[in-house]
Amino acid sequence: MDIQRVGIVGAGLMGSGIAEVCAHVGYDTLVREVNDELAAKGMERIDQSMQTAVQRGKLSQADLEAARSRIRATTRLEDFADRDLVIEAAVENLDLKKEVFAQLDHICPAHAILASNTSSIPIIQLAVATRRPDKVLGIHFFNPVPVMKLVELIRTLTTSDETLQTARAFGERLGKRMIVSKDRAGFIVNYLLVPYLLDAIHMLEQGFATKEDIDVGMMLGTSYPMGPFTLLDFVGLDTTLHIADVFFEAFKEPRFAAPTLLRQMVAAGWYGRKSGRGFYNYQAGERPPR
Ligand code: 3HC
Repeated sequence: MDIQRVGIVGAGLMGSGIAEVCAHVGYDTLVREVNDELAAKGMERIDQSMQTAVQRGKLSQADLEAARSRIRATTRLEDFADRDLVIEAAVENLDLKKEVFAQLDHICPAHAILASNTSSIPIIQLAVATRRPDKVLGIHFFNPVPVMKLVELIRTLTTSDETLQTARAFGERLGKRMIVSKDRAGFIVNYLLVPYLLDAIHMLEQGFATKEDIDVGMMLGTSYPMGPFTLLDFVGLDTTLHIADVFFEAFKEPRFAAPTLLRQMVAAGWYGRKSGRGFYNYQAGERPPR
C-alpha cells in the first residue's frame, strides 16, 4: 500500500515532531488536537523546530516553506476520513487511546493503518478496539523526533505482514532506522533504558556519588550524549515515573520499581526541564555538565 496522507493524533512534543518529519519528506500531514489553543501551540513547536533546522544548516528556507505548506491542524477527528495512515500520539491513558482507536476505525478508510506511538501500553489492547486488528501496530519514535534516527515497530499477535511492510517503507522514507519488537511493555529500548535510569536515581539516593559525577561518568565513560540525570530531566520525571509504574505492573520485577526520590520529586512538581526544575534546577540557573 502506498501511503500519501498521514494523520497524527496529538500535537504535543512527540506528535508535533512526527508531523514535522512526515511533512519534510512529502507526506500530506494533518495533526489533530483537542482544542484550537493546543493545535496552535503544536504548530508553533513545529515552526520553531523547522527554524532551528534552517539555522543549523539542515534545511533550506525553500524546503521549510514546502514542508510547512504540507501540514495542517484540525480539532476534528472526522477530518481523518481520507488518511492512509494515522499515528496516535495522545497522552498515555489506555481508556482514552482505546476510544480514539474505536473512533478512528469508524472514520478512516478501510485500507488505513492505525498506529500508536505509545511507549508503555500494549498495542493489542488498541488493536482489539477496532474491526481491523491486522492493520494496527506500534510505531514508536524517540525524542527529539527530527534528530533521533530510530523507530521501533511493534508487531502484535494480529498485525499482518503487509501492515508491517507498509510501516517499514514509511519509516524508511522518513530516513529512520527501524527495529522490530514484539508487543511487550518497554519494547526494546525502554526495557533496557528505564532500569538504567532508575538505578542512577538509586545510586544518588544512596549518596554513592553526585548527580554531576554520575552524568559525567556515563557521558565520558560510555559516550552517551547525555548522562542519566540530564536525560531524566529531558524525558520528564512524570513520564519516567508513569512508564516505570506501568512496567512494574506488567513484570512485577524490582528492576522496574520506582525509587522513592523519583516519586517525591514528581509529587513536588519537579518534572524536569519542562517545569524548570528536575534533578537540575534550571530556573535557578543550574545546568547539567557538558
Ligand atoms: N531539526 C533538525 N536537526 C536538528 C534540530 C532540529 N530541530 N535540532 C538539532 N538538530 C541537529 C543539530 O544540527 C545537530 O546535528 P549535527 O550533529 O549534525 O551537528 C544535532 O541535531 C545535535 O543537536 P545540538 O547540537 O543542538 O544538541 P546536542 O549535541 O546537545 O544534542 C540531543 C541534543 C540530540 C538531544 C542529544 O543530547 C541526545 O541525543 N540526547 C539523548 C536523547 C535521547 O536519549 N532521547 C531518547 C529519549 S527516550 C524516548 O524518547 C523514548 C520515550 O518513550 C520515553
